[in-house]
Amino acid sequence: MAGERPAQAVILAGGQGTRLRPLTLARAKPVVPLLNRPFLAFQLALLREHGVTDVILACSYRVDDVRAALGDASQLGVRLRYVVEKEPLGTGGGVKNAADLVAGTVFVLNGDILTDADLTAMRQFHEARGSRTTIFLQPVPDPRQYGLVETDTSGRLRRFREKPAADAEITSNTINAGIYLIDAPLLGRIPSERPSSIEREFFPALIADGIPCFGWCPTAYWRDIGNPAAYSAAQMDLLEGRARMPLQPPGECREGSWIGGGGSVAADARLVPPSVVGARVELHRRCQVGPGAVIGDGSKIGPEARVEGAVLWERVEVGEGAVLRECVIGADVKIGAYARLGPGIVLESGAVIPERTTLTR
Ligand code: GTP
Repeated sequence: MAGERPAQAVILAGGQGTRLRPLTLARAKPVVPLLNRPFLAFQLALLREHGVTDVILACSYRVDDVRAALGDASQLGVRLRYVVEKEPLGTGGGVKNAADLVAGTVFVLNGDILTDADLTAMRQFHEARGSRTTIFLQPVPDPRQYGLVETDTSGRLRRFREKPAADAEITSNTINAGIYLIDAPLLGRIPSERPSSIEREFFPALIADGIPCFGWCPTAYWRDIGNPAAYSAAQMDLLEGRARMPLQPPGECREGSWIGGGGSVAADARLVPPSVVGARVELHRRCQVGPGAVIGDGSKIGPEARVEGAVLWERVEVGEGAVLRECVIGADVKIGAYARLGPGIVLESGAVIPERTTLTR
């Protein structure tokens, strides 16, 4: 830890989140709801657990969403400050924009990673190796769609290889997990006048210049929530205990589900755990919610409707007898009676689905 100062982190939160469209047309990816909390609340809680309480958010796209959802985050026990790019500066320029506010060794995180990794152990590894930049590495079964990171037997970084085309180029199964520890003075190397990439420019240049950089490969839960399938799966992982929750969903936990206040549940409605039901939600007669349902605040689940393994944002209205399975529904969506929505369906906020419509993929 850097002397008397609280440990610091910069979170990259300025991307457009194109892979998570259409959800990110209505809300910035770093604050899409995860179990009815803004996504970054989970990262901030993890950082807090590891003594990191001074956090700078590097923002650009839809910064007002991020501010509205997180404010100064004092209720999460951290101090949150915002730096905002006039034009998107990429992952390199975003961090550089925050460089004046940090000193010592600083965590840098992509704002779309859900993990329960032991960040204290990462810092200890960084110090023990005399590393100046440490990258959290994650083994994946098929690394083809990612950038590979090669290390030597001591863990020192040797090479980055972007999206290998041929199988012969797959020389490692570890990928850059999007969480770093960087000695702040190195950030001076990032140009401030133009967009740049931390992964494609900054890290390879450190290696080329012989600066000691290491890969840290923990055994931990890790997921990039950047596409709808992963965003949905992350919530099921938390609900089903595959990922440790650094933060509970809002509401009171009863028989394996969380229920917010101010709503109404019909006597014959079934809430099947594990599920999360927000505040002011109405569950009408004989509906079934769960297992694995996440219902946003102010939503209404009509009579005899079923919602399973599905994520609903705020104020969604589900008509009588409608069936929603393993889909993601944006805010203020209206789903007509007896509609059927199948796995993988993603609805933009404000969508209206007529009665008896069937949507499958
Ligand atoms: P896709 O468009 O779906 O790839 O998502 P993205 O825009 O978030 O890009 P990507 O997943 O590659 O970004 C990794 C992290 O960097 C995310 O947390 C982004 O929010 C962040 N990021 C990407 N571009 C910028 C930028 O120009 N400025 C800032 N401050 N952050 C960025």
